[in-house]
Amino acid sequence: MKHYIPYLSLTVIYLLLFSCSKKQAAEMKPTPVPPEKPGTTVTYTNFAQALFQTKCARCHGVGRGAAAIWTFDGLASVSSNQNRIRQSVLVSKSMPLGGSLSAAELKSLQEWFDNKMPE
Ligand code: HEC
Repeated sequence: MKHYIPYLSLTVIYLLLFSCSKKQAAEMKPTPVPPEKPGTTVTYTNFAQALFQTKCARCHGVGRGAAAIWTFDGLASVSSNQNRIRQSVLVSKSMPLGGSLSAAELKSLQEWFDNKMPE
């Protein structure tokens, strides 16, 4: 019986993580849409903010489960962590954990970083 305990606690952690993301998924706003007009500059205001808010903040928002790893709290919190964010979202695609971004979202995010994160 003793050696089941590590597996049990892992299962509990797993369930906690996913039950909470499920509940919060219902509160999520619609998927942010990349700027429609070709030639429109992707900005924090017209795109990136909504993306981080809807795809990351339920885990990385202030007081959320993964806030200790990276806290999303406005543009400065993104720009000061841009290398880690680019790496995990655009390169390894390990984030958003348990989800994914559309091709259009990835493209706009890439553009936004490449343009030095205009506000
Ligand atoms: C379901 C919860 C969840 C969501 C949604 C999520 N993350 Fe994470 N994130 C985590 C956890 C847990 C870790 C730490 C474990 C890991 O790296 O896999 C993490 C780690 C990270 C790290 C640190 C990686 C490193 O090696 O330094 C960054 C940066 C990050 N996430 C950014 C994001 C961004 C940007 C989004 C949205 C596009 C996002 N995350 C969405 C839970 C989440």
